[in-house]
Amino acid sequence: MRAVVQTAYGGAEALELRTAPRPTAGAGEVLIRVHATGVNDQDWALLTGKPFFVRAFNGKRGHRGRILGLDVAGEVVEVGDGVSNLSLGDRVFGDLSERGNGGFAEYLSTAAAAFTRIPDNLSFVDAAALPHAGNLAVQALVDVAKLRPEHRLLVNGAGGGVGPLIAQLASHYGVRDIVGVDDASKQEFMRAVGFTRSLDYRAVDFTRSGERFDVIIDTRMTRSPFGVPRALAPGGIYVAIGATTSSLLGLALWGRLIGRMTGTRLRMLWLKPNASTSELATLAEAGVLKPHIDRVMPLADTGLAMERFGAAQHRGKIVIAVAG
Ligand SMILES: NC(=O)c1ccc[n+]([C@@H]2O[C@H](COP(=O)([O-])OP(=O)(O)OC[C@H]3O[C@@H](n4cnc5c(N)ncnc54)[C@H](OP(=O)(O)O)[C@@H]3O)[C@@H](O)[C@H]2O)c1
Repeated sequence: MRAVVQTAYGGAEALELRTAPRPTAGAGEVLIRVHATGVNDQDWALLTGKPFFVRAFNGKRGHRGRILGLDVAGEVVEVGDGVSNLSLGDRVFGDLSERGNGGFAEYLSTAAAAFTRIPDNLSFVDAAALPHAGNLAVQALVDVAKLRPEHRLLVNGAGGGVGPLIAQLASHYGVRDIVGVDDASKQEFMRAVGFTRSLDYRAVDFTRSGERFDVIIDTRMTRSPFGVPRALAPGGIYVAIGATTSSLLGLALWGRLIGRMTGTRLRMLWLKPNASTSELATLAEAGVLKPHIDRVMPLADTGLAMERFGAAQHRGKIVIAVAG
């Protein structure tokens, strides 16, 4: 099979298109013919080896020969012993970030439990754009923030992979005021994907604008946790999805105390991969969730796709069409 293999930490030059042995399905596993794989922040971190703890967790040589790609959509072509939830020919999708990744290759075998059936109205490309970002959106907004229709919602870092899904979900739950914060070039994009208002973070510091929100979701944690309560209504909740190492430490150390002193709650989301994928399938089937695709690129251009992602040139999800 054709596979894009990582040879070192780096950029596009650290990825090689090679011929590799096709895997087989072991007990409890399925073999998937991969049709499409979404590009995510975690792929970029594993490729570049940044931030530093990525290298600490992956060992000195753990990255060599590795096949990245965690957001996978494909077709079951072999079923291992003991698998009862999937059959040959099923169209499936899932987040393989805790199962060794492997989506930038024509075939992969992994536990059948990692996959959910793709609804008929969803293409492989759209399905590959949903699991990772969609699980983050559902778990932050529904499981942690417990969003209600009367809430005012602000999303910081709203113009990336997760923001548009949060806007669609919030609108589905009846929220009327959905504010997105990102840079000047993404204002139109944010309003096109469902934010009712958009702010340029260089022009407005949302923690100092005087406005208060019941729920703030943050994909980047670019403002100090000490300033965040200024933008929260009494009893409001702030959920950080993504953060730098230092802001994460700040939140872990001070979040609870800041919350107690200001009558708000500051939380970090710990993603449970695939815990919400069947909910995503239902929402996508009902037309509530429709991923925004930046572009679809062939497997041979995976390095270019990663560089486009790393240079923040994308609007919406980049997807690799693995099967051509
Ligand atoms: N909590 C968990 O368990 C968990 C698990 C997996 C992943 N994650 C994290 O979850 C996040 C996923 O979000 P995503 O996929 O939507 O990320 P994304 O695609 O990188 O989007 C983030 C957006 O924020 C923008 N941004 C940059 N600086 C900003 C600033 N100062 N103020 C406001 N916006 C700013 C970015 O713009 P540019 O692109 O122009 O920089 C981008 O549009 C990632 O940070 C990922 O690391 C968390």
